[in-house]
Amino acid sequence: MNKLTLTRPDDWHLHVRNGDILKTVLPYTARRFARAIIMPNLKPPVTTVDQALAYRREILAAVPSHLNFTPLMTLYLTAATSLEEIKKAAQSPYIHAFKLYPAGATTHSEAGVADIKSVYPIFEALEKYDIPLLIHGETAAADCDIFDREQAFIEQLLQAIVATFPALRIVLEHITTREAADFVLAASDRVAATLTPQHLLYNRNALLAGGIRPHFYCLPILKREHHRQALVTAATSGNPKFFLGTDSAPHPTHLKENACGCAGCFSAHAAIELYAEAFEQANALDKLEAFASFYGPDFYQLPRNSDTLTLIKSTWNVPDVYGSEAVAITPLKAGETLAWKIRD
Ligand code: NCD
Ligand code: ZN
Repeated sequence: MNKLTLTRPDDWHLHVRNGDILKTVLPYTARRFARAIIMPNLKPPVTTVDQALAYRREILAAVPSHLNFTPLMTLYLTAATSLEEIKKAAQSPYIHAFKLYPAGATTHSEAGVADIKSVYPIFEALEKYDIPLLIHGETAAADCDIFDREQAFIEQLLQAIVATFPALRIVLEHITTREAADFVLAASDRVAATLTPQHLLYNRNALLAGGIRPHFYCLPILKREHHRQALVTAATSGNPKFFLGTDSAPHPTHLKENACGCAGCFSAHAAIELYAEAFEQANALDKLEAFASFYGPDFYQLPRNSDTLTLIKSTWNVPDVYGSEAVAITPLKAGETLAWKIRD
């Protein structure tokens, strides 16, 4: 196949930051996707509707004028999230979800929740107002092996959340293990998952074999090959529980190439192209459109997009860095060749 026309896709998990980084990265997303679920883990976190509306305006101001792009805002759930704020979010057409970060689990999660049981009244309100709860599904327990943290979160916390709030819509974000895929499959249709390009394309050898490669360091961390295979099977299965969410998470290059490098892969520069590569490797290009363009809006109860995006088989070289001297960001596949390209 040399040409692939898709209903325009959306990105259901995206970090765009603010300030200079926002201006640098947003055009890459807006060129490919019509909408994106915007993660609220700024510093300080986006915890109120008013903050989210201000952030939304800043994002819209960074959209190139020839493109149409709609940011779908989320709020950062904390132990202090009030029931009034949840009601306000439910009434806002711009707020689409709350994001739960276990405190300490990932980048900018310090304001997250330490005792998940203590926020059950918040989950109850989200269930009542039918607002999706997006979950970073890793335990932050320091004594839990980093490769086991997703599975531990599912067993120790998520099973109970799903059982206690059966009507709550939940997205288990950026799943990385066979156990997570199996959990989502076995759960009701209120439970779905996003999948990133890096977890479909790479296993942990990319990060650690032959030298430490910090640009493959993201959370949840890349896992063994059999997990990657299970994720590819889930993504290409045609099951509407699994949809596209890049988790594109830009960080300045010098903070990743660092003795204590931070977590996050930047993939917005080639997001849909990377998924096309993963789906083609699995002989499943025919399953890409529904994964990228149908199942996400269906889950979020939003209309599917009506325009299209065309990919062509034509190689191009990924730059070593994006941005200027002030904000240099090293992308996934830096310096490598990609097979699929967006038609101008
Ligand atoms: C994300 C970030 O940098 O904000 N990092 C990451 O490794 N994925 C946070 C997150 O989604 O966990
Ligand atoms: Zn993320």
